[in-house]
Amino acid sequence: MEKYVIRGGAKLSGEVVVSGAKNAVVAIIPATILSDEPCVIENIPNISDVTITLQIMQEMGAKIRMLNKTTVEIDPRSLMNMSIPYEKAKLMRATTYFLGTLLGRFHSAHVSMPGGCNLGDRPIDQHLKCFSALGAQCEIDGGMINLRADKLVGNQIFFDKNSVGATINGIMAAVKAEGLTVIENAAKEPHVVDLANCLNSMGADIIGAGTDVIKIRGVRELHGTTYSVIPDQIEAGTFMAAAAATRSNILIRNVIPKHLEPITNKLLKIGVQVEQYDDAVRVIGGDNYVGTTIKTQPHPGFPTDMQPQMSAVLTCAKGASMVTESIFDNRFRYVDELRRMGANISVEGRVAVIEGVERLKGAPVKSTDLRAGAALIVAALSAEGTSEIYDIFHVERGYENMEIKLRGLGADIRKINEPDPVSDPVVKKAI
Ligand code: EPZ
Repeated sequence: MEKYVIRGGAKLSGEVVVSGAKNAVVAIIPATILSDEPCVIENIPNISDVTITLQIMQEMGAKIRMLNKTTVEIDPRSLMNMSIPYEKAKLMRATTYFLGTLLGRFHSAHVSMPGGCNLGDRPIDQHLKCFSALGAQCEIDGGMINLRADKLVGNQIFFDKNSVGATINGIMAAVKAEGLTVIENAAKEPHVVDLANCLNSMGADIIGAGTDVIKIRGVRELHGTTYSVIPDQIEAGTFMAAAAATRSNILIRNVIPKHLEPITNKLLKIGVQVEQYDDAVRVIGGDNYVGTTIKTQPHPGFPTDMQPQMSAVLTCAKGASMVTESIFDNRFRYVDELRRMGANISVEGRVAVIEGVERLKGAPVKSTDLRAGAALIVAALSAEGTSEIYDIFHVERGYENMEIKLRGLGADIRKINEPDPVSDPVVKKAI
């Protein structure tokens, strides 16, 4: 079982390069199934969610060839298997994207209900609403989502709930449908725009991505492309939070500053300095921060995927801060772990109130999900003493070489592999 061991207090310095966006690439790789020719996708991050997605594609019959560490060639022409079993689908949420792409290409899909971070209730009713509107029969049988359509015909779709996944699935199911599809109340996240740009580079006809209304005019076929994935704004934001928490001065390269605006604005508000360049930001931590309010919202609001990391920074801001999680109904599971480090946080439903303390103290803690793990790293880097962070497989789903990048900035962090105490024969016998 691997863990991070972090000795807090080290100032970070120098610069770090952000990798390709996880939430864009886990949609763009399945989207290549819609192409009639091989596609080359560049700037892919080396994270387990990408490894799993490529493995799924390969097991379905697509030909996968890594051209270098961050570039993959995908030839979907030999793909013949339309189903994804539970043991693969349970590993991540993004396997739902195979529903939209297989339906869009083959008018058939059989994908197990998805896994992913445990953030509370994560239904897929908006995804199914979209597929039905395009003419698909949807049924859930034995944990499998089965879709079938004689043909797909464009339609008007209004999402009752603003959903990144349903928007992405809707786009992929509609790109080869007959006629015009209009998606209203669409998600506007940068990775939705990145997917639409990639599909348009393959010959799709999508306009309005990044706004509330996306129009997709169906085309008969899609050709190959060479497409480079956008930088990961949440990875960039996580390093911004790490710089803020450790009161450091670092340069974060390979970013799109516009994508970071909601994060930058909140850091400026509490007393962090942020300098923006064309494709980089410099973050200069301050001596004292003031508490603030955070309310997560769909883009361009404050991103829910930065809520835990920002809360970790606010644990040592002067005064009280209030954090409202309006996207998911249970995204405060990391709070108990921060309390072990001395944080003073009370949670009532979707609202957390953080009373600033002088400094956190290192402790053994557990990552409960991907961004919770990132928050614990941010907290441990600034804490007094040493922390051990367990269940780091969550973190490695979405952050490429996290400990190497942090060590490169001067952090005292090591990744240690130790036998899982529960698998120890003595312990096994005792429990
Ligand atoms: C995507 O999840 C991201 N995952 C999440 O990132 C991110 O937190 C989330 O979007 C919001 O930005 C990927 O892109 C792989 P949603 P997704 O559909 O698509 C409800 C991370 O840390 N909803 O926008 O699952 C849902 O329950 C991960 O990188 C319905 O009610 O999120 C939630 O409350 C975590 N019905 C809200 O909408 C539906 O059919 C937003 O969910 C779909 C969603």
